[in-house]
Amino acid sequence: MTTTLPTTSEQLSVALKAQIATAHTNAENSRFMANLGKGNLDRDAVAELTLQYFHIYSALEAAVRRAAKHPAVALIFDPRLERVDALTEDLTALTGAAWRNEAPLAATQRYVSELEQLGPEDGPEVVAHHYVRYLGDIAGGQVLARVFRNEYGVSEDALHFYDFSTVGKIPPYRAKYKAALDNMNLTGNEQTRLIDTAEHVFVLNQAVFTDLAALRGLN
Ligand code: HEM
Repeated sequence: MTTTLPTTSEQLSVALKAQIATAHTNAENSRFMANLGKGNLDRDAVAELTLQYFHIYSALEAAVRRAAKHPAVALIFDPRLERVDALTEDLTALTGAAWRNEAPLAATQRYVSELEQLGPEDGPEVVAHHYVRYLGDIAGGQVLARVFRNEYGVSEDALHFYDFSTVGKIPPYRAKYKAALDNMNLTGNEQTRLIDTAEHVFVLNQAVFTDLAALRGLN
């Protein structure tokens, strides 16, 4: 797909959201996510997804910390967003200690190895990874948490991942995040890298959903 760079009258956050719109619809409609969101699956599916997230967020949060001094990353870096402790608690509530012996799915391993390759100079790429996961979690994640609670009987002690109360109210937080994106002063080339990487991160996530669907025999 062609990358549409923001014009002078358009901000990066707007261009970014427009560029990921199709990928977002595809992610929502992926077999695994669609079934999960409709209440067609079960608590085990929540545990399987949560396990993938544990590996992804462990690598994501390490990558963000490695690049935290990059001027673009510094604008969005916020340890209050970090999810690894929450995911550890959730998995323990969902499976006891069993999850520690389970390997991540192949697509998760590929996602993790891409994150592991990001270094301190990869600011635009790190911002893209950060945006796709955390902005998604604080928006659509809340919809999913409601389904997990109401349809699958998942209790609050396994839903810490979706609890972002430490950052305060979500709408102003999102607005501040988008203002930070718009204040990054990136070159055209860096904006292209950021937007292209965001689309690629959707592909990485989509591959995880495909593997999860296969695990469930949904393919
Ligand atoms: C069933 C699955 C999903 C649902 C129901 C959902 C729902 C939503 C909703 C309601 C918003 C807020 C839209 C707005 O107010 O403008 C949103 C935003 C977002 N979602 Fe999702 N989503 C889902 C899956 C995903 C996935 C799998 C990802 C990424 C891997 C993702 C990434 C994002 C991002 C990055 C945003 C922020 C867009 C922006 O405002 O710039 N979503 N989602």
